[in-house]
Formats: sequence, structure tokens, C-alpha cells
Amino acid sequence: MISISLVRRVLRYGKDLWPQFISQIRCLHPSSEPDKYKHSVYRIIVSYHVIEKGLTMPSPKAGFGQKVVKSLCILCKDYYEAGYQQSNVHFTHAVRVLNEYLEFNKRIHFSIEPELEHAILELQTVTGIMVSSSQEQQEVGEFFQFDKDAIEHFFTSRRTIRNYLDTPIEKHVLDSCIRIAQSAPSSCNRQPVRVYAITNPELKSQVLSIHNGNRGFGHLAPMLLVVTSDQNSMMGFNERNDGYINAGLFSMNLVHALRLHGIGNCILNWSVMKDKDEALRRLLHLSDAEAICLLLTIGYVPDTFYTAVSPRNAVDDVLTVIS
Ligand SMILES: Cc1cc2nc3c(=O)[nH]c(=O)nc-3n(C[C@H](O)[C@H](O)[C@H](O)COP(=O)(O)O)c2cc1C
Repeated sequence: MISISLVRRVLRYGKDLWPQFISQIRCLHPSSEPDKYKHSVYRIIVSYHVIEKGLTMPSPKAGFGQKVVKSLCILCKDYYEAGYQQSNVHFTHAVRVLNEYLEFNKRIHFSIEPELEHAILELQTVTGIMVSSSQEQQEVGEFFQFDKDAIEHFFTSRRTIRNYLDTPIEKHVLDSCIRIAQSAPSSCNRQPVRVYAITNPELKSQVLSIHNGNRGFGHLAPMLLVVTSDQNSMMGFNERNDGYINAGLFSMNLVHALRLHGIGNCILNWSVMKDKDEALRRLLHLSDAEAICLLLTIGYVPDTFYTAVSPRNAVDDVLTVIS
């Protein structure tokens, strides 16, 4: 039996979800010049990533991935011909990866399709990028060498802190935290996460006022971070939630990085309906292509402070081994 309250809910949620759906579809077919540029970079990343990954396989097959190599050559050519920044780290890297691919096949005496080789050589000529990338060889001992006890303690003793001093956070410290957070994995290395750091007291309190869940401590934080994800990075509607996952992984790294710098923090949910989402969007002048994922209050902490116990579930409640 369908109740009236259920119908009301469906209509209410539908009213909110429909514009979100339209905006996500729009991100797949960007029309503005800046979005087209970003889309072009993301497509280049996704393609070079396939080749890079292939080159690190235990036994890469001779001539593997020629279809992707072909489409990467076309993407790079289109990018170049559109007059986009040649210094873009991903464009430069893409050409280097193509060069490495060529060298790899030459080394094992495999002839790739002549038109493909020609396309890579042509890119070398027009861009002047002759060097190759070089996938990183790791040593097991070195890769897994760290103080396990110290690091386990670092992870397990992390706690949300809701008590801050008004000491400002220096830009170079924030930069360092973001750099560390950027080591988080991201879908095909697309790195769609963006962070807005708000210190302006008026703007900070305006943002906090449209959020539920920071009462009693939010106002103490000298800085408020807003973590977003660029939905232009989506290659298909099936990836509509990837931005949020990327933002979650990035934010976890950020939380640890902040702690390394002696900065306490509390993640704030962004579980809101359209009206609040739009209000924050307006305050920060965000485009529809940026999904707001979460907020963080951050600040240096007093000499003593309390944290909630927040017990964890038993491992058996979390883990199911399927053998
Ligand atoms: C997605 C997410 C949303 C959260 N939202 C809030 C929030 O709005 N307000 C708050 O005080 N804490 C918030 N937290 C912090 C959690 O309450 C906290 O992580 C949890 O209780 C476990 O405690 P611990 O972080 O100290 O281990 C949030 C955490 C996450 C991961």
C-alpha cells in the first residue's frame, strides 16, 4: 500500500534529484570553453593512464593497447590544435608516455602500426617533447620500510577535534597539507578534488549557518575548508558517484596531514537538500559542475581538550571473508 507520506517524499526528493541529474548529464557534454578544456585534460589523463598502467604490468604484451594509443594521439592533437596550454602537466606527460610506449616496443623488437608510430613522432615534432616518461621501479624492502608501530599508533589514535585556538593557519602549512593529501589515489589519476579555505569571519559564519552539525564549536575554528569534486572529470553517467569517493579518500589524507602539522579538525557532513547546496554554491561562486562533498573545521588546539570515545565495531562485524 502506497501511503500519502511516501508519495510526498518521492515528489520532494524527485524535485531535488531531477536538477542534479540534469547537471550531471551536462557535465558529460560541456559547452563552456573552460569546461571543454578541463574535459579535454581529463580525457587525456584517462587514456595515458591506461598506457602507463600497461607498462607496469608484470609482463606487458608487445603492442598492447594500440587502440588507446591511437585515441590518445588524437586527443593530444586536438588539444594542441585547440591552442590549449602546452605546459599542462598532463598534456606533457601524455606525450612522454607515448614516447615511452614507442621505446618499449622498439626494445622488444615489436613493430606497432606505422600510422601510430607516425602520429607519435608527429606529436614529438610539434610539441618538442622528445623525452620519455619512465615508470618507477620499486624495491620491496624500501617500499614497505617504515616504523609500523608508530604508524599504527598514528592511524588508530586519530580523533575528531572540536576545540580550536584562534591562531591563524599559515598558507605554507596549508599548502603542505594539501600536497600530502594529493598523494591520495584518484580514479585514473584524474584528481578531481578542489579545496576552498575560508578565513573571512563573515563568510565563515554565513557558511556555518547553513550547515547542521557544527553548533558549539564551528565558530571557534579559524579556518573552514570546503571540499568539492569537479564533475567534468566524469567520463560517463556510471561514474556519477566517483567524485564523492575521490573526495572522501583525499579528505582522509588531508585529515592525517593536518594532524602531522598539529592541526585539529572535524569533518562536517554536506548531507543537504538543493536549497542549502545552492546557498553555499552562491556564497562561494561555484559552478554547477562542482559537487560539494564535505566541509572541515580546522585549527590549532589548546593544551588540553576532550575527544569523544566513539567506540568501533568488532572486526568480525566489518569483515566477511568469502573463500
Ligand atoms: C562524512 C562525515 C560527516 C561528518 N559530519 C559531522 C558533523 O556534521 N558534525 C560533527 O560534529 N562531526 C561530524 N563528523 C565526525 C564524526 O562524528 C566522527 O568522525 C565520528 O563520530 C567518529 O569519531 P572520531 O572521528 O573521533 O573517531 C563527520 C564525519 C564524517 C566522516
